[in-house]
Amino acid sequence: MKLTMQLDNLSYDIIIQKDCLKDVDKYFSLNRKVLVVSDDGVPNIYIDTVLLKCKKGYKFIFKHGEESKNIDTYQKILSFLIENNFTRSDCIIAVGGGVVSDLVGFVCATYLRGITFYVVATTLLSQVDASIGGKTAIDYNGYKNVVGAFYQPSKVLIDTNTLNTLSSRQFNAGMAEIIKMATTSNENLFKILEDTKDIKEDIDNIIYEALLIKQKVVQIDPLENNIRKVLNFGHTIGHAIESYYNMTLLHGECVSLGMVYMSSSNVKERLIPLLKKFNLPVKLNDLSNDELVKYIYHDKKATGDFINIVFVKQIGSYEFRKIKIEEILNYL
Ligand code: GLY
Repeated sequence: MKLTMQLDNLSYDIIIQKDCLKDVDKYFSLNRKVLVVSDDGVPNIYIDTVLLKCKKGYKFIFKHGEESKNIDTYQKILSFLIENNFTRSDCIIAVGGGVVSDLVGFVCATYLRGITFYVVATTLLSQVDASIGGKTAIDYNGYKNVVGAFYQPSKVLIDTNTLNTLSSRQFNAGMAEIIKMATTSNENLFKILEDTKDIKEDIDNIIYEALLIKQKVVQIDPLENNIRKVLNFGHTIGHAIESYYNMTLLHGECVSLGMVYMSSSNVKERLIPLLKKFNLPVKLNDLSNDELVKYIYHDKKATGDFINIVFVKQIGSYEFRKIKIEEILNYL
């Protein structure tokens, strides 16, 4: 299956296919210097499969985890590119999940004012969200994604066989982003998720359906001036929960919790069982509302006293609300 992201001045393909990784040279233009960047949590086989297809391949591996998405790793990759004389006609491939593609995308956006950026997305979360749509960033001074750029990849490969090496916890965290898109934008997809008996069997089509939602939104509003904010459903409180638990919960797990707060009671009646079906958390007992608000303040310090939230009254639809940060207490 293939989807094409059509933006004003560029377009790129997203390939969703089991085993497409072994034909990476068919999809990416590798007849040049290629830097493969990944982390030490990604199975070597994926990195080696790409490198084997490169005549002039280099690799840079950093320690896995959000704490590596920082200026230090960013600088080390830049130094590596300079030391190895990478030019603007060379390319970089991010192999991994959202941390890898966010960081590598930002390197690509800024090195020589822009170098070709390819992604091999190996986690469900990055296949349905992080690797698509050009949001790139690093964390800085305790603020998540506060330094970054919109920079679109030139192509994204989604080999769903890579999901076989993902832990079920990581897989389910990716499901949270799919549920997010279904809840706000496609009741039919929500129903498919409720009904599926074998998620692994159905995952290719489900990824495709979720990406259709993301594609439509990003094509209309690539720079997140308006409608793209819908993709942040569950994220305002989710990010605060992520900081509160010092990154011990996965991003998707925090989004799961965040979505519950932002849903009407009749939406919760179907959303909570669906989240539980994928072992996602729906309530944390040791979470103090006052502490949570402190983290929301911290998170939003860089963007002002108001926050935009996405609220779902009915599955398949959403509304935007701009509220003062303290008003979030009404939702907790
Ligand atoms: N992950 C949300 C977005 O791409 O806008």
